[in-house]
Amino acid sequence: MKKIAICPGSFDPVTLGHVDIITRAAKMFDKVIVAVLVNPSKKPSFSINERIELLKEATADIERIEIVSFNGLLASYAKEKNAVAVVKGLRVVSDFEYEFQMALTNKKLNPELETIFLTTSARYMYLSSSMVKQVASFGGDISDFVPDCLYDKIYNRLKGDV
Ligand code: PNS
Repeated sequence: MKKIAICPGSFDPVTLGHVDIITRAAKMFDKVIVAVLVNPSKKPSFSINERIELLKEATADIERIEIVSFNGLLASYAKEKNAVAVVKGLRVVSDFEYEFQMALTNKKLNPELETIFLTTSARYMYLSSSMVKQVASFGGDISDFVPDCLYDKIYNRLKGDV
């Protein structure tokens, strides 16, 4: 049976850190579903469709992945898709508490589902979508944060958005 993993997130917008985690997850599983989900505690800057389009461009050369959106519980979506694992990147200690809580909640809702944390690559340790948004909104350079092919789209969309 094919081993399917889900890389869930807000991806608002996708960063080089996300692409790194998706690339590494794709080497570990037969198929990776990149799921754009709603995080009720965040107010998004990009629509779901925009986030999907950006993700598709950013991951165009990664094989055996699928980009989807789902408005509901990750644990239910994983069950529906027969996914065996959720793969998330872990950057700094401050990520841990929230991620640990989500992993345990998902395990309670779907006991078959494992959560795997990949240690972030050192060069992306500081990177987050929120930082991209903040830097671009003040007109700063985000070339080390997002894929080259998306620079203009993300920058032009966020610049002045303060
Ligand atoms: O990139 P983010 O914002 O850290 O990702 C969080 C996300 C979207 C994966 C999380 O909020 C989520 O799984 N949302 C779907 C709703 C859900 O299942 N909530 C319960 C998980 S504890």
